Amino acid sequence: MEKMQKLFPLSELPEGARRVVEVGLRRVLVLNVEGEIFAVENSCPHMRFPLKDGRVTEDCGIICPFHHSAFDLKTGDVKEWSPWPPGIGRVLGAISRRKALPVYDTKVEDDHLWVSTQPRR
Ligand code: FES
Repeated sequence: MEKMQKLFPLSELPEGARRVVEVGLRRVLVLNVEGEIFAVENSCPHMRFPLKDGRVTEDCGIICPFHHSAFDLKTGDVKEWSPWPPGIGRVLGAISRRKALPVYDTKVEDDHLWVSTQPRR
């Protein structure tokens, strides 16, 4: 069975909140988007910069603040790869291969949030 790590009381992550937690050696970004909990690697697959201040989009995406790569919070799929800044972003995008964002399973038990210790993908 999948191993999960207990994080903190669910009440500490109200709607719209986000937190970075350590799961083993990784840093995982946990977000509450309109009551739905998501957990993704905090490091952008493009150049490993932190995603924690990324903008969440209406279609459940997150946009990296650095070169605006966009990822699906549910699946980790790439929606856009390094489009920013115009022209230069494309060049930077070519430096590293397009990679999905690792996503983690979550659950609520005993009023606490839990996250899987390994990414789903
Ligand atoms: S580091 Fe995130 S898009 Fe470049």
